[in-house]
Amino acid sequence: MYLDTANIDQIKKYIDYDWVKGVTTNPTLIAREGKSREEVLQSILEVLGERELFIQAAGDTKEEICADAKKILKQGDKRIKLKIAANEAGFQAMKEIKEVHPEIGIIATAIFSIEQCYIAALAGCEWVAPYIDRMSNQGLDSEEIVSNTAQLYANLGLNTKILGASFKNTSQIIHTMLAGADSVTIATNLLDTIMNNKLAADSIAVFNGDAKKFG
Ligand code: E4P
Repeated sequence: MYLDTANIDQIKKYIDYDWVKGVTTNPTLIAREGKSREEVLQSILEVLGERELFIQAAGDTKEEICADAKKILKQGDKRIKLKIAANEAGFQAMKEIKEVHPEIGIIATAIFSIEQCYIAALAGCEWVAPYIDRMSNQGLDSEEIVSNTAQLYANLGLNTKILGASFKNTSQIIHTMLAGADSVTIATNLLDTIMNNKLAADSIAVFNGDAKKFG
């Protein structure tokens, strides 16, 4: 599981769990922090340990995306990996970046179709990130897209993994995993919801009350 946030307090709260493999960010998440990208990313790297940090190389053209990727990768920190949008400019940029950095892990992001997943796998992306809630908002069946993608990758022997993203409730996370996703990146408010289950709280309060009274 990955944390989908650029907020340092949220990251600190969850990053030490062994099952958290890293952090995914995007320009919107970084903009929310009201600081420069450099500052935000530096603070994340300071608490990240050995985990991965995915940073989006943004731009309208291949040239812009490649220039941004170069900036992102310039400090040579092995924990830093890329997110690149799965559109024509993005696929062109992936080709160029892979020629220079064949080892670099890339999440193909802004995924709304199985066709994008297919091309991203052919392009050698480590992950595809289907946007589950944004798909639902467009009337798309995200579970079908995830399960067909998993089937397609299995049929063709493609190694790209599916990282469910853009969740707005906890049920979407589990349904995406059941549909065949390999992992998920989730906002920490959803982790808070899972960890503080309101129904469980009543039962736990009774147990703890009895434990205090009777040991
Ligand atoms: C992750 O890769 C995406 O940037 C993110 O999950 C998008 O989420 P949103 O739809 O909540 O903005």
